[in-house]
Amino acid sequence: MAEMIKLFVNGNEVEVEAGKNLIDAIGAVGIEIPHLCYHPALGADGNCRMCLVGLEEGGPPLVAACKTPAAEGMKVLLDADHIKKIQHDVLEFQLINHPVDCPVCDQAGECSLQDYYMTYDGQKSRMTVPQVTKSKKMDFGCGVIHDQERCVLCGRCVRFCRQITKTGELGIVNRTDTARVAIFPGRPLDNRYAVNVVDLCPVGAMTSADFRFKQRVWFMKKERGVCHGCSKGCNITIDHNREKDQDDLIYRFRPLFNEQINGYFICDEGRLSYRDENENRLTEARLSKTTMSLDKAVTAGLKEIKRAEGIVILISPDCSLEQMVSVKSLAEELGATLSGFSDGYIKKGDGDDYLIQDDKAANRAGLAALNIDSSQTGFEEALAKAGLLINFNNDLSLFYDESSLKKLFKEKRVIGVTSRNTKLFQMANLVIPVASFTEYSGSIISCDNILQTFNRAITKNDTLVDICEVASLFGGPLKTDRDRYDELKKIVVSLNDFDPDTIPATGLKLT
Ligand code: SF4
Ligand code: SF4
Ligand code: FES
Repeated sequence: MAEMIKLFVNGNEVEVEAGKNLIDAIGAVGIEIPHLCYHPALGADGNCRMCLVGLEEGGPPLVAACKTPAAEGMKVLLDADHIKKIQHDVLEFQLINHPVDCPVCDQAGECSLQDYYMTYDGQKSRMTVPQVTKSKKMDFGCGVIHDQERCVLCGRCVRFCRQITKTGELGIVNRTDTARVAIFPGRPLDNRYAVNVVDLCPVGAMTSADFRFKQRVWFMKKERGVCHGCSKGCNITIDHNREKDQDDLIYRFRPLFNEQINGYFICDEGRLSYRDENENRLTEARLSKTTMSLDKAVTAGLKEIKRAEGIVILISPDCSLEQMVSVKSLAEELGATLSGFSDGYIKKGDGDDYLIQDDKAANRAGLAALNIDSSQTGFEEALAKAGLLINFNNDLSLFYDESSLKKLFKEKRVIGVTSRNTKLFQMANLVIPVASFTEYSGSIISCDNILQTFNRAITKNDTLVDICEVASLFGGPLKTDRDRYDELKKIVVSLNDFDPDTIPATGLKLT
């Protein structure tokens, strides 16, 4: 439990956490101190002066809130006339050469400069001399486009590359009104977290080549999610919008703060993995080359199961715990061998010592917790003796090349239950489309043994069923969420108290 102290803001007593600077301490009780250069992940730089506040008694009359620790009995002034005048003047200074091209700026709607102008400034420009012009649309590499005219020189992007990625590609060159953020000649951004500078930039000076001009931010709905790009389980915001007569589309993943998992950032690969949720999706069931309804496909699947001599069920290490336990119960019901073989998901040496993991599976820890065998020999030996393989979304093509797959599947019947229309699943005799992870609710365990839950964020026009439902339609005994939670508790000791409603949004560290 953090130590609490009492101080006064505009004469009103508030209780805040000790050890934090004034921006964070007072911000936590809902009182905003405007700031541009400070960011909690990067620390205070003190260059923008937007956060100046008054102190009554003891200490200098004016301090930078980002550099001032909250102290017992402190009397902070935010609404005094001289503070309002400072905020007004700092904003006027920031806007002297700013292009104010908000109507065509991607940041409009989530821009600190725009918001602060409306809240603390509102004056008309008094400038009668021509504005200083700088470069626009500069390709900084890694999908980051820089607009020098919009930049307020807060230095967050520069500090990110120095302090977080330690790659130091960015710097501020020149002085006064010729100062600008730049890369070294011929040395663009070159790190796997570069697009975080777009989120960090308090204005629209850093934009994402991927997102630019695609959507106005106020049209998008924002849902919490968990990235499935690797076993780290970084928290994300899923920004999506359903335009008239169109499917619900995701426009971007952005990092969502979670102190015990990813802090304020995510990797660029995970960020762009939203595309897989939109593209190359399977939406119709198919028997050989004939499309059909889900009901007919399930009937066809049940016939395959009935006449099969020996069944192997393969499950993806990306599946949720609820899906894994449903498929495990189905396998027991059918007397089938269950495998979680997924060595292809591991890219040895690809991970780093920050967020990115070698293991690109979101829930391998779930496979282990449910005692699902994931060995190659276990899978291959069982498949050699079986007549039917039911593959629940496991991308075997990450491990086997096309000719090995053909050999493996020779004389086998294959049912693919999948969210992707990939070559692998085009080889199956019967395919059933299912929801992907932004379209169902579930729980996963990260590589750090943190249990996280997530909710359905996206609803497609063609509503897709969850793997849990397909397992149940194929004869699995777990019919409801409650059945699945109860079964999970029975199998996994550390999930004894498991109830998705009681898991904190930040996750639960399992013992
Ligand atoms: S580009 Fe953005 S983050 Fe970088 S210094 Fe300019 S305003 Fe700050
Ligand atoms: S580190 Fe892994 S979980 Fe995090 S954003 Fe990247 S791919 Fe996603
Ligand atoms: S936020 Fe304090 S000086 Fe910039």
